[in-house]
Amino acid sequence: MTHTITVHTSSAYDVLCGSGLLPGAGELCRRVNRGVHALIVTDSHVGPLYADTVERSLTAAGYQVRTFTFRAGEQSKRLATVEEIYEQAAMCPLHRDDLIVALGGGVTGDMAGFAAATWLRGIDVVQIPTSLLAQVDSSIGGKTGVDTVAGKNLVGAFWQPRLVISDPDTLDTLPDAVRTEGAAEAIKTALIADEELFAQMEAAGTITPEMIRRCIAVKRDVVEQDEREAGTRKLLNFGHTIGHALERRYAYRLPHGQAVAVGMVAAARIGRCMGITPADVEPRIAAVLRRFGLPVEDPVPPEQLMTFLTADKKHHASGVDFVLLTRIGSAVWRTVEPAQLVAWLTPQAD
Ligand code: GLY
Repeated sequence: MTHTITVHTSSAYDVLCGSGLLPGAGELCRRVNRGVHALIVTDSHVGPLYADTVERSLTAAGYQVRTFTFRAGEQSKRLATVEEIYEQAAMCPLHRDDLIVALGGGVTGDMAGFAAATWLRGIDVVQIPTSLLAQVDSSIGGKTGVDTVAGKNLVGAFWQPRLVISDPDTLDTLPDAVRTEGAAEAIKTALIADEELFAQMEAAGTITPEMIRRCIAVKRDVVEQDEREAGTRKLLNFGHTIGHALERRYAYRLPHGQAVAVGMVAAARIGRCMGITPADVEPRIAAVLRRFGLPVEDPVPPEQLMTFLTADKKHHASGVDFVLLTRIGSAVWRTVEPAQLVAWLTPQAD
């Protein structure tokens, strides 16, 4: 059965969720795009598993198809890889009515989306997220971009997809570590907006297709309210302030979900120290993260972390922006002074 969640942003689009959607991807793309050429962008992990299926399906739907496969990993998420996508787009050649298909996880979606946003000043992109992280979060809402030496996601564009095709069957082939990583974003979504969903995750210790749909509904509600992150959308960054600092500290070799997991526990502690987050929230978050096999702390000293925090785009003249929980299922954002952070993040502070 296919579930449709429609996202009403500046351009409305459907997120289709259903087992077995992948072989029919071409027909689904045809419903929203009338182009001749399609460029599939995928990575060296996902391409060997699914690119043939999607390519055949697009061909059957009348597209002339080319597939570009880049080396899997956050290290590829940079302008040099986007330039390679442009070269492939020129070889197709992709015209204004044509299509880029992002087949893969968060890195693929962000980068292929950015290429689509900028090629010929913007062409259609269909997101086919194959990781849990991409299905619950990054494929929806139109954030696209790349990392630079100066920081993560500093170059990008808001570019909504024409369609998102989310097939939970693709999660069966995920390596355990990648699946676990995606669980962090699903837990984050529940923590900021859906207490009942969080309780289900606590009880189940796994993320079911129904929970994925519930996360998508939360994401839809948030991006419909605030497409360009002027306010409410910042709440989706819960755990990401410390998370991004850790990723930079480890030169992006620490998986995003693991960094966010540590960041969520830290944010719960900061919220407690500020009198915003109830004391039982931090241990509840830590327990569920442990249950999912995610880390809850990191040995980097707080003073060292500050160097990486202040280089982030969430840092500005008055401090660093944090998303904090007022309870499980509800969040606010606050600016925190770096000097206080060091004290709160130092274990002896307890
Ligand atoms: N992943 C956070 C956002 O889409 O705003």
